[in-house]
Amino acid sequence: MNKFVGYRCSLCGEQYSPTDVTYTCPKDGGNLDVMLDYDSIKSKYKPEDMLSRNDPSLWRYLPLLPVQGPPGEATPLHVAGGTPVFKLTRLAEKLGLQNVWLKDESRNPTASFKDRASAIVVARAQEIGAEIVVTASTGNAGAALAGMSAAVGQKAIIFAPKSAPQAKVAQLLVFGAKVILVDGTYDDAFDLTVKAAHEFGWYCRNTGYNPFTAEGKKTAALEIWEWWENTHEKWHEEFGADLDHPSLIVFVSVGDGNIISGIHKGFKDLYQLGWLPRIPRIIGVQADGSAAISNAFHANTETITPVSAKTIADSICVDLPRDGVRAVRAAKETGGTYVNVSDEEILKAIAELGKVGVFAEPAGATSYAGLVKAAATGLVGAEDPILVLNTGSGLKDVRAAMQAVQSAPIIEPTLEAVKKLI
Ligand SMILES: Cc1ncc(COP(=O)(O)O)c(C=O)c1O
Ligand SMILES: [Zn+2]
Repeated sequence: MNKFVGYRCSLCGEQYSPTDVTYTCPKDGGNLDVMLDYDSIKSKYKPEDMLSRNDPSLWRYLPLLPVQGPPGEATPLHVAGGTPVFKLTRLAEKLGLQNVWLKDESRNPTASFKDRASAIVVARAQEIGAEIVVTASTGNAGAALAGMSAAVGQKAIIFAPKSAPQAKVAQLLVFGAKVILVDGTYDDAFDLTVKAAHEFGWYCRNTGYNPFTAEGKKTAALEIWEWWENTHEKWHEEFGADLDHPSLIVFVSVGDGNIISGIHKGFKDLYQLGWLPRIPRIIGVQADGSAAISNAFHANTETITPVSAKTIADSICVDLPRDGVRAVRAAKETGGTYVNVSDEEILKAIAELGKVGVFAEPAGATSYAGLVKAAATGLVGAEDPILVLNTGSGLKDVRAAMQAVQSAPIIEPTLEAVKKLI
């Protein structure tokens, strides 16, 4: 079944066939939405077909994805998706909330949400016979591309800012990608990657540029849908909520705006298919020092004005978000909003999540910091069902993690020294 029928520009609405374009709208540079043939998907599948599939990975949703199947041979170590959701009972209590869950994307194969995008982009790269895939990355997208490429024998090149955390650079190198560190910002690396891809004929995975990244990221929404279908009835019985379909609120950390756009796309696909009665409210969270999308949202405009970004959350440190317009719409069209948090609040969120066994990198904990703020300001109610995404592992940035906690004392190896300390 040919379910991938083309692209639609998110700015001018122009439609393109799958072979007309590769990245963005030739007219205005707008991000392209992948168009699926909803009628034929609907005629062939029911939600139960999706939910009863045995595959726990994102390939469970293959009928809704614009590729033919997973890249390469079986890749047991590199199957993204199927991440766990658990209730944050103790943390929720502290915030005066009753129904908070966390979906832990750090459990993906290279320890961040970005594995979802790379799985689909590498599948696409193989379908179009791309020899080399390249990406700009603050670290996670690169690790995800490098890891998936290593698993299937695809060549990958990664451009990262030289300031990228060591653990992320180590991941890129260990996976055997060609790693190029740029003496500049992520935005500099992004622009250079686009130029290099054009010059050398490489296939470019850049976030907010390649339309397939959002298709990978939307699989988180498909999983949230499936989880919520299973959960809300129990929740309904337990709390006697008087809504047939209580509106879930999803908190997402935002940098380029591609994760939030991808999640929105996933919910929209399900809604179009008639499989989701109400799209959850999506709340984007940005760092105070990197808030170009939030600024646009609150100014009620789709014009994204770049900032000179600075935040400890390196993964969301972006001057000019590349998927800003769709990211603004993700909150606007779902009755959500944007919340900004300081670096101090992000570090506090890392420590709080740690207390319940979740180890998040700064960008991963940013969504939880946003929830803390939303609870304090009354943006969310005590009974609202809320899902927070942790998008990346704390092991990715140990230096930042150490700033979130007190360092451990060093003692002589004697019982006396222990007694003194205790
Ligand atoms: C851990 C983590 N969280 C959040 C984000 C934000 O995603 P986006 O740039 O698509 O908004 C990223 C992107 O690199 C990330 O690595
Ligand atoms: Zn356009």
